[in-house]
Amino acid sequence: MTHFSGGPSFISTLICVLGILLPSIECHCPHMMGLKAPGPPSGPSPPGKFPDGDEGWDYDETAAPGIVPEPHFIQSTYIYRSPNVQEKTFSSRVVTVLKDIRSRLEKSARLTLENENIECSSPTDHYRCQEYPSTGTWNYLIVEDQQKGAATYTFDRKYNEKNDGTIEMALLDAFSRHSPSSLIAFASPEAEKEVGYIRALTVQEMDSLSGKNRHRQISMEKFGSNELNLLEPALLEVRTGSGLKLTSDSLRRIDSSKEFDKLLDEYKNVFILFWTSNRMVSLHTFNLWSRVGDKTKVDDDTLLAHVPCHESSEFCQGLNAEDYHTVVSYKNGQNTGKTENIGDEEFYENWIELSLLGPLQKLPNESKFTDFKKGIVNGKKRPSVTIGVFPSDQDTSFQHFQIATEKLAGKYYTAYFINENSKPAITTYRHSEKQKRTDYSGKFDPASLMEFITKSSIPSVIDISNGFTTDVLFHQKRPILILIGRDSEPFSKLSARQDARKNYIFTKIDGENKNIQKTKKALGIDNDEPVIVFLNKDRVHLIPTSKPKCPDHLQKLLQVVSSSEADNVLSTKNPHPLRYLQVENVNKQFGFEETIVLPDHTLFLDSDPFARHPPISESGGTGGCPFMQGGGATAASDSIPHSEL
Ligand SMILES: *[C@@H]1O[C@H](CO)[C@@H](O)[C@H](O)[C@H]1NC(C)=O
Repeated sequence: MTHFSGGPSFISTLICVLGILLPSIECHCPHMMGLKAPGPPSGPSPPGKFPDGDEGWDYDETAAPGIVPEPHFIQSTYIYRSPNVQEKTFSSRVVTVLKDIRSRLEKSARLTLENENIECSSPTDHYRCQEYPSTGTWNYLIVEDQQKGAATYTFDRKYNEKNDGTIEMALLDAFSRHSPSSLIAFASPEAEKEVGYIRALTVQEMDSLSGKNRHRQISMEKFGSNELNLLEPALLEVRTGSGLKLTSDSLRRIDSSKEFDKLLDEYKNVFILFWTSNRMVSLHTFNLWSRVGDKTKVDDDTLLAHVPCHESSEFCQGLNAEDYHTVVSYKNGQNTGKTENIGDEEFYENWIELSLLGPLQKLPNESKFTDFKKGIVNGKKRPSVTIGVFPSDQDTSFQHFQIATEKLAGKYYTAYFINENSKPAITTYRHSEKQKRTDYSGKFDPASLMEFITKSSIPSVIDISNGFTTDVLFHQKRPILILIGRDSEPFSKLSARQDARKNYIFTKIDGENKNIQKTKKALGIDNDEPVIVFLNKDRVHLIPTSKPKCPDHLQKLLQVVSSSEADNVLSTKNPHPLRYLQVENVNKQFGFEETIVLPDHTLFLDSDPFARHPPISESGGTGGCPFMQGGGATAASDSIPHSEL
């Protein structure tokens, strides 16, 4: 009985079966849909007739104003899949009834109904069919009006095929919900005694409807604005490390697990790097961390520390290569987060600050709210901040926002403000951008909130003059645009468009140095003319900056270029041209060394074949050692006590 011929199982949940079998469950028949049924208040009896002598609201110039309905406009789409004769007969009856209703409502209810019928029975059908299942049988009515927006209704042959009257009643039921008053009164005499069955799809059903949405990958930016210029471990690996200072006066050195436990009790916040002088990457990370220790001022309840594992090998048992360049954070003795990113001093300072602030700040009053909006956090201007305004912290939208920010802990400046009179709203502000504010327009589910925070926070144009994080540009699918040499209004305007950033990564190179020269040469740029480089994996196209006249023109040029022959093809046997920019940053941090830049064909792949981590792990961190575990909220509640070490 509950099986629906040919339809996937979720379709069967759409139908009204339960509503009929179990009256206690919400019924989908018209009288229980919140409509004022003209008939008796209970029981599925057909709606009553209009009072005698009243010809309905049939427009009459002389009638009293109260009974003349307001003109109203509704747009609808009947979209259906009818794989067999039985279904085809039904859908063609629906089409006829719709036509009939349309002219009747126009005449007597001052309702303009624009309807489109779309059949989706073969793969070549209307493009809108793509939003719906490509198998099974279904009948949907999408109704849209100015006040309520769009809703999708499902109705079924089985329950509506009795006669054209049942079909009519089902359709009128749906249209009634988009009209100032019920339209049931305008039913034809044949329909009056019938009951049709139709119901609106829930948000969940809408999501699961289209195969695309069901499998829709949430696409997030992997890196926050503090993480766009991280150091590449592979480039540290090839250095000698000679001359680097490997002691620190300002970091607390920890030699045993006993001491470690004691300090976790003593300090509210502890940040620790476990490192070893036997590994080149680790040794460079320690050098940076010791500089952070010298420079960063922290409160008395906060401790910056290090564990030299080459001298306390027992304490560090079980750590893996990546753990040796990971800084771990603890709050009140609990592991609250970690970062395996290697960045300059400012990167670590920001990360510490973000960890101390926690994933989501509460803005106590309007003046704090105003400051945060301007990007000012702890007295400093930040490239991007995200603020949620909620009517209450009991609101589901707030709780989902909280979940999203906890998953992104340590990466973004996020805050919330409670305003009883406000609807939930989330906005990202980037004060140095052309487009300074970006509003969230999703359904307040944690996944789309995370997507929004990560995407709206990233700069439209990433400055790579002094290097960049490897996976920001490599191991991904989008072509890279590089503006070299001079500002270009078409370029910056195009980069401000979100849909353009979906297709390209916008970057720029300013200034001159030896490595920038090497990069340009390797890209095949042999003069100093300002140029926009279109880099699609190994294909290089060059567009003189003077050529595009406006953003649309540039977009057009990019489309043309992408399908035309490349100006230059990179060989994967040579070092990647952009690697030189990363080398520049490494030299800047640790002093110049003449290192060999190795070719690496994996930089051209869509994903890193050696990646150990998904970008944002769902289950918190996965260090090789218990005290490395956690990150974000999960760790705070179920972290493993350090005494287990
Ligand atoms: C707003 O809150 C901050 C932090 O609690 C406080 O220092 C400040 O005085 C408050 N401002 C006003 C106008 O109430």
